[in-house]
Order: sequence, then C-alpha cells, then structure tokens
Amino acid sequence: MNESPTVVPLDQILNPISSDLEKVEKLLIDNMETEIPLLSEVGQYILKSGGKRVRPALLLLAAGAVGSIEDSACVAANIIEYLHTATLLHDDVVDNADLRRSQKSARTIWGNEASVLVGDYLFGYAFYHLASLNNLKLVNILSNTSTLMARGEIKQLTRNNQVTIEADYLDIIYYKTASLMEAAMQIGCILGGGNDSEQEAMRLCGLNIGMAFQLVDDALDYDISNKDTGKQQGVDLKERKITLPLSHLIETASPEEAAEIRKILAAPEITDEHVQRVSQLVAVYNSGGYTREQAQSYAAQAKKAIEKIPDSAYKISIEQLSDFIVFRKK
Ligand code: IPE
Ligand code: IPE
Ligand code: MG
Ligand code: MG
Repeated sequence: MNESPTVVPLDQILNPISSDLEKVEKLLIDNMETEIPLLSEVGQYILKSGGKRVRPALLLLAAGAVGSIEDSACVAANIIEYLHTATLLHDDVVDNADLRRSQKSARTIWGNEASVLVGDYLFGYAFYHLASLNNLKLVNILSNTSTLMARGEIKQLTRNNQVTIEADYLDIIYYKTASLMEAAMQIGCILGGGNDSEQEAMRLCGLNIGMAFQLVDDALDYDISNKDTGKQQGVDLKERKITLPLSHLIETASPEEAAEIRKILAAPEITDEHVQRVSQLVAVYNSGGYTREQAQSYAAQAKKAIEKIPDSAYKISIEQLSDFIVFRKK
C-alpha cells in the first residue's frame, strides 16, 4: 500500500467546520434531555463518550463545499449522528460487545433491554426531528437509508460462519455503514444549495468513503497490536462474521493453516487464544494490509467523485478525511 506520510490529524481536518460542529455537539446533548432519567442517562452516556463525529462532519463539509452551512445542516447533522448512535447501541447488543469508545458499552452497564429501547428512541427522535425540516427529499433519503442499515445487519446475521463471497460482503458493508455516509453527504449538499450534479458527486463521495471506512474497521478488528480502537478486538471472529481480512487469509494461507482456521470457526466457543492465533496469521499474510489497500482504492474513488467541485477549504478537508480514514488507528 502507498504509505501516505501526509495524513493530517482529524482535529486539523475538521478546522473549517469547528464552530458548526460545536453547535451540533450542543444539539446532540440538549436534545437528549427528557423527563425519563434512564433515557437521558443512557443517551448522554454514549453521546458524551467521544465518537469521532465523522458523519456530521461529512454532512457539514459537503454543505460548505457547495454553498453555505445553515442551521438546517446542523440539525441534519444531529439527526445523522442520532441514527448512528442508535445503530451502535443496537449493534453492541447483537455483537455482545462489552467496550465502546474506550468505556463499558451501554449494555454492560444498563443491560440489553435499555440499550435496545434507547436506540429505538434515538431512531424515533431522529425522524421526528427530520419532519421539522419540512423537506420530503430528505425524508425519502433517510428512510431509505435506515431500511438499508437494518438490512445490512440482518444479512450479516444470516451469513454468520459462511465464507462470505465478496459480493455479499460488499453488500453488507454498503448497507450497514456506507449508506449512512452516502446519505450524510447527499443531504449536506442539498442543504448547502448544491445542484443536481453536485448532489450526485457528494453522494458518490460519501458512499465510497463509507466503504473504505468499514473495510478499515474490519482490518482494525484483527490488528490486536493496536490498542487505540477503544473497542474489544476479535469480536468479528468470535461472532463468526467472515469479513475481508479473514476471507483473504483463508484464501492465502497454507492448506494446513486454512484447515486450522476452519476448525476454529467450527469450534463451540471461539476463545481469546483463537483470536490471538488468527490475528497472528492475519499479520503474517498481510490480510489487514490487503484490506486497507482495498479501502485506499475506495478513498481514491471518493476523491475522484468530487473532482469537479470548486476548490475550497471544505473540499480539501473532504479529501484529507478520505485519506485519514484509510490510515486511522481508531
Ligand atoms: C463505528 O463507527 C461503527 C462502524 C460503522 C464501523 P465509528 O468508528 O464512526 O464510531 P465512533 O462514532 O467514532 O465511535
Ligand atoms: C458496524 O459494524 C455496524 C454498524 C453500522 C453499527 P461493526 O459491528 O463492525 O461495528 P463496530 O466494530 O462494532 O463498531
Ligand atoms: Mg459491532
Ligand atoms: Mg467492527
């Protein structure tokens, strides 16, 4: 892979939108004030735990790059981050994950029931809030996205333990992750005043960034020498999700090693030792590196998609963010 020595730190990339992101941050917390203590507590716990805010950032940058960032874009960024947060609450239940953003996952503290229900609330609130923007096109986009995201997680569930053929894997990562980033950039562009061709360019850019993003997430799950992810690693193996690093490994390892991996996948319980062993093989066969290379080619397509957008600080940040996500450690 082309090591990029010029990866810019995230806070610097987000500089052109820092005041808008602060507004979004305030909306995220304020809109979680309710009269139900458990709801506010769980919601604020996860919202204050330090997510990267990549999706709101993509939305705001897309708006800035084609026109201006209005309050409606901040509201839409709030909505997108609520949808993302809802999926995290649900995903940690589905994946039995104990750690999220370097702290105990909500399900570990309040239980699966509370996590599912607060996730439902965030979904509901996001659409209630969306209605207040009075824009049917946005409703169309986001309602489609939320069905795609659910599809992604369901398709993944039905494919547990099957050596996923690449087309299925790509469908899953598009549905569960890329579709939200696609929507974020398309919506940002609409609210920033972008024309039809700009909307299409931003939509494609978001889609490709999202594909790269999930590929790297899947590589990070096996990169156990990296302690920065803030999530438990090896979860994908433990849940028998066959992601690209693992399918690449099974294809490239020796027949004996491939048989050993298949045996692990068939074991009644996949242990920490199994995770260690498979992660070691992932490193030996550079399956994480291969996965990041694929991500890098999606990031290149993301940048290409916005070639014709006029130059601006916002556009530069989108390009830098595309590179950042390929090389990120968390
Ligand atoms: C995690 O997303 C879930 C995936 C789609 C891989 P992020 O890595 O954006 O999570 P936060 O919001 O920064 O914690
Ligand atoms: C992302 O997949 C699913 C969502 C869109 C929430 P993962 O299950 O790999 O995400 P992490 O690794 O738990 O964040
Ligand atoms: Mg998960
Ligand atoms: Mg993951």
